[in-house]
Amino acid sequence: MTNLIPKISEEEIQKKIKEIAALISSDYNGKKLVLVGVLKGSFVFLADLTRQISIEHEIDFVGASSYSGTETTGIIQFTKMPDLQLRDKDILVVEDIVDTGRTLSVMINYFKTLKPSSVKICTLINKDERRALDIEIEYSCFDIEKGFIVGYGLDYNEKYRNLPAIFDLKC
Ligand code: IMP
Ligand code: MG
Repeated sequence: MTNLIPKISEEEIQKKIKEIAALISSDYNGKKLVLVGVLKGSFVFLADLTRQISIEHEIDFVGASSYSGTETTGIIQFTKMPDLQLRDKDILVVEDIVDTGRTLSVMINYFKTLKPSSVKICTLINKDERRALDIEIEYSCFDIEKGFIVGYGLDYNEKYRNLPAIFDLKC
């Protein structure tokens, strides 16, 4: 029997996204911003974020998978490569959640080989309980200490991505 306990409301999420989008719009003014969403978890966040950013930008996606249930397998698999030309662009990687940091560090190393002007990270959730690698996160909407959360794009075995708010999952 699984239990969903409300953690971050729709209103809180939308308010924070507006703030972060305003910051991004000002920081990247005059730059060649490309938001690169990490599939699948970031699709809801990216859809709201892009509509709040007031400067011109491009959108791409990269696919990665490492989790089975609530545990990371430790092996990052690329399931989709970016389509756009990213050389000399300002890449902002958009993640749903940074946990151990393994997925992102593999991504960042790959993006750097494409010779962009810059690569930075924007995450909806920063969860540092199990952080294994030291990575710099430029924009983070919410910091949580621990637990497994679902909703607003985040899944548990591919379910609950559709929930409009974020919940703690108790098994
Ligand atoms: P990392 O490589 O350990 O940082 O894992 C990042 C990825 O794991 C995220 O993009 C999510 O897909 C997944 N993940 C980590 N923690 C959670 C969670 O609490 N709920 C749902 N997915 C999670
Ligand atoms: Mg996932």
